[in-house]
Amino acid sequence: MIVVTGATGNVGRPLVRALVEAGEQVTAVSRRVDARDVPVGTRHHQADLTEPARLAPALDGASALFLLTSGDFMAAGGDLGAVLDVVRASGVRRLVLLSSQGVGTGDHPSASEDAVRASGLEWTMLRPGGFHSNTLQWADLIRARREVAAPFGDVALPTVDPADIAQVAAAALREPGHHGEVYELTGPAPVSPRQQTAAIATALGEPVTYVELTRAQAREHMLRAMPEPVVESTLDLLGAPPAELRQVSPDVERILGRPGRTFAEWAGRNVGEFK
Ligand SMILES: NC(=O)c1ccc[n+]([C@@H]2O[C@H](COP(=O)([O-])OP(=O)(O)OC[C@H]3O[C@@H](n4cnc5c(N)ncnc54)[C@H](OP(=O)(O)O)[C@@H]3O)[C@@H](O)[C@H]2O)c1
Repeated sequence: MIVVTGATGNVGRPLVRALVEAGEQVTAVSRRVDARDVPVGTRHHQADLTEPARLAPALDGASALFLLTSGDFMAAGGDLGAVLDVVRASGVRRLVLLSSQGVGTGDHPSASEDAVRASGLEWTMLRPGGFHSNTLQWADLIRARREVAAPFGDVALPTVDPADIAQVAAAALREPGHHGEVYELTGPAPVSPRQQTAAIATALGEPVTYVELTRAQAREHMLRAMPEPVVESTLDLLGAPPAELRQVSPDVERILGRPGRTFAEWAGRNVGEFK
């Protein structure tokens, strides 16, 4: 049996589906997951990872775990070491961690990866770049005014489809040969905010106006949701990303045997979110 945390998220939801379709027994975990979030007949278990003992019943009889540390978990001072103690005690052997490309470039802390490496479990690290689905933050304005307001309109990054991250995670959870591997997961081509806006417009079949925010305007918006140091470092990365973050990684294609899916494909599949 395979346990998926973050099971209602961008990656966890398609991961649960992919594992069930592959014939695996799955337990989907999040704080609020319920039967409507999972394929019929799939087990689900509500647990807050900030209280690691509550995860234990879900892990009973499991062989592998997909683990992500959400922003909420970090903000609440979640203790990944305590989670890993519960995982180890349960007898789970294999763990796939949803990490971040920023760990490789030194822009994000490596504490989660360090704890997993020290855990004694068989591990695989997934280090994705920015997700295609980050553009869902534009959905309200697109629905209301057919408009996107974002900074750095022509800075292109190879954003990745969360469903492709899920497919790579499914491979690492189910197949041999992924132990001790660190996969950098990007999309197949760099795409800028202006090009993403155009792709959403094409999917909608209606024009969408791109309004370029200045860094100061973007900063003001972001400060409503994030602490100042995070806002500044995110703006630094988005405005002048290092060369490593601009490059397309071969890992998705190497593992899945097909290229990662483009932003335009993702927009077509998720157009309902912008209608
Ligand atoms: N977005 C990006 O561009 C990007 C890039 C690189 C890496 N990442 C990494 O990707 C991860 C986020 O993945 P995602 O986008 O798939 O997630 P998401 O869509 O933000 O969803 C978070 C999931 O975690 C659950 N969750 C949140 N807090 C929890 C807690 N305390 N205990 C148990 N479950 C909890 C949520 O469900 P409930 O609310 O029901 O608990 C939900 O299922 C983060 O670790 C982030 O650093 C993101």
